[in-house]
Amino acid sequence: MEFFEVVHTQRAIRRLDPDPIPDDVLRQILEAAVCAPSGGNRQGWRFLVIRDATLRRRIGDLYRDAWYNDLLKVPYYRDASQAPADSDRAKVVSSSRHLADHIGEAPVLILACLETEGMSAGLTQGASIYPAVQNILLAARALGLGTTLTTIHRFRDREIKTLLGIPDNVETAALIPLGYPLGKFGRAPRKPLAEVAYLDRWGQATGW
Ligand SMILES: Cc1cc2nc3c(=O)[nH]c(=O)nc-3n(C[C@H](O)[C@H](O)[C@H](O)COP(=O)(O)O)c2cc1C
Repeated sequence: MEFFEVVHTQRAIRRLDPDPIPDDVLRQILEAAVCAPSGGNRQGWRFLVIRDATLRRRIGDLYRDAWYNDLLKVPYYRDASQAPADSDRAKVVSSSRHLADHIGEAPVLILACLETEGMSAGLTQGASIYPAVQNILLAARALGLGTTLTTIHRFRDREIKTLLGIPDNVETAALIPLGYPLGKFGRAPRKPLAEVAYLDRWGQATGW
């Protein structure tokens, strides 16, 4: 696929076919992940590919529990039922709930992790894992696979780490369900560029 077609049609795909994903496809996706930049080129990323059905189910149970018992306390999600049913917010929350109910059925979960070297994780450190995560999303799209960047598992970080044997000095940055899409790829709703891009001074229109 042409690069810009991949970028313009990559979006959260939360309805996934449970059919397995071949090893060589997974390998290609991970090869793309490790092309990403990281601070000092330290490459503290680690990618846990979870295919075992029992592990997926147990992670799915933890994720669902976190969605209903923790995420729903966040006002954006809690109050979404008051938003019009056809609003972007209502659609995202409903789709996110569907994923919470089914994430363990995705044929593969990739847990993107980062070794923290004892530093507390923040935006700067996070910047050393998310380019690799984005490469995973784009490579998957180019290969016809659906993904969603998710973080709700972090409400159950302790249980996830114990389940998967992840050491304490490692952050679990993103849980990415991967599978052939049941829905369609397509252009995602985004604010117009004129609203978010400035030239030289904050708030100054680019004019192009
Ligand atoms: C940092 C981050 C965390 C996210 N966490 C979740 C999540 O836990 N669960 C989920 O279903 N989607 C999650 N998403 C996906 C967003 O909801 C999605 O990217 C956004 O709604 C745009 O979707 P679209 O590309 O289909 O328009 C996350 C995205 C980002 C960037």
